[in-house]
Amino acid sequence: MAVGVFDSGIGGLTVLDAITRRLPDLPLVYLGDNAHAPYGVRTHDDIFNLTCAAVERLWAEGCDLVILACNTASAAALKRMQETWLPSDKRVLGVFVPMIEALTERNWGDNSPPREVAVKHVALFATPATVASRAFQRELAYRAIGVDVEAQPCGGVVDAIEQGDEVLAEALVRSHVEALLRRMPRPQAAVLGCTHYPLMESTFQDALGDGVKVYSQAKLVAESLADYLTRRPEMLGAGTESKFLTTGDPKAVSSKATQFLRRRITFEAA
Ligand code: DGL
Repeated sequence: MAVGVFDSGIGGLTVLDAITRRLPDLPLVYLGDNAHAPYGVRTHDDIFNLTCAAVERLWAEGCDLVILACNTASAAALKRMQETWLPSDKRVLGVFVPMIEALTERNWGDNSPPREVAVKHVALFATPATVASRAFQRELAYRAIGVDVEAQPCGGVVDAIEQGDEVLAEALVRSHVEALLRRMPRPQAAVLGCTHYPLMESTFQDALGDGVKVYSQAKLVAESLADYLTRRPEMLGAGTESKFLTTGDPKAVSSKATQFLRRRITFEAA
């Protein structure tokens, strides 16, 4: 009954952790494509091909349902996967929709027409590929009207996190927040649109100031997955064992993941 969780690297572990807290008995197979991270500077074709390969690897682990715990893959590849590639007995879910449903005060899966919502000025922090895709704005427009989104491509942050350089990651986050605040001085909400960024959440909050509500995806994705599985229990795959797989060097990835999440995590080769 395993579910797969995929990210380009270690960022999706923030989502995995939240799912484990919400659904402690659910076996999860995590796959980090560390050999090809970061995705945020790749072309959409490249991201599509890498994401399909990773999802196939998770099917081989008995995971019929895979969560793309990666905004870049969700933004650049998910729609195309669902429209052109995915067999009917498998599901791939992204991380954008739960976040936008929360921001627009909707129940999970509510597809009613767009309406006015309380929040009017939203700052979006994401990778260059996610920002360029405009997927966030597209999904938001299906659900809300009159929301002004200012997006900041946060070049370098995922790289710094993947390299285990917390000092550089913090400096980059502060400079990206400053750049955004020059264009939108008073956002009401800030969306951390990359699953690596919760690892720097306190820096984002500090740089933005207390008045800005920071939306981080992990908990929202976990809640929406729990709701999905009560509606679609047949999507639990045949896998029974939790494990962490990486296309990168398992030793190096384990030590980085352990450093960032402050608990022991052991990866094996994918
Ligand atoms: N965690 C991925 C995301 O949510 C990182 C993207 C990357 O590899 O650049 O977008």
